[in-house]
Amino acid sequence: MSDDIVLVERFPGIDDYMRTRIAAGMHPMSREAATRALPNTLYGVHLARDGQVVGMGRIIGDNGCFFTVVDIAIVPELQGRGLGKRVMTALDAWLQRNVPPSAYVTLIADGDAKYLYAQFGFVESAPVAVNMEYVMEAGGVRSHAHLHLSDH
Ligand SMILES: CC(C)(COP(=O)(O)OP(=O)(O)OC[C@H]1O[C@@H](n2cnc3c(N)ncnc32)[C@H](O)[C@@H]1OP(=O)(O)O)[C@@H](O)C(=O)NCCC(=O)NCCS
Repeated sequence: MSDDIVLVERFPGIDDYMRTRIAAGMHPMSREAATRALPNTLYGVHLARDGQVVGMGRIIGDNGCFFTVVDIAIVPELQGRGLGKRVMTALDAWLQRNVPPSAYVTLIADGDAKYLYAQFGFVESAPVAVNMEYVMEAGGVRSHAHLHLSDH
């Protein structure tokens, strides 16, 4: 059961953030990237068990026109027990309270995670619009290697 897991309305610190992304099999972020990114979080939460971060999710954006849900991750040993839904329920409640009419709310769904997001009103934009991306590597190299993994 997940009764001993609490949802905290605060995004994890840098070390827990980097560790949890890797634990969930997501593309690793550099410390520099994470250090610059996390203070720009509009709203974020984490799940804690015995003081340890076991899940997280956050919203970023310009706080007016564009909002993006990112970093939804649950550690593998606790996936499939409703914890991702718990994180999304908290983020959805914040979006309902804070997003003004006409604004876009978007996310990139990896694989079957789309079934989770569909429960919160997200629909696939393709073929009208598709996500396009690259990962910046050292020296300005635009990489697509991450697309071999299911991560963002
Ligand atoms: C994707 C992820 C966040 C989902 O969290 P989770 O705790 O495993 O999901 P939950 O148990 O809360 O599932 C919530 C709902 O989504 C559905 N769902 C979640 N993952 C699913 C999957 N792979 N296939 C089908 N449905 C799925 C569940 O059926 C459930 O629906 P229900 O309540 O109607 O039964 C988690 O598996 C994870 O961290 N994966 C690795 C990292 C990742 O891919 N993050 C997402 C980046 S977009």
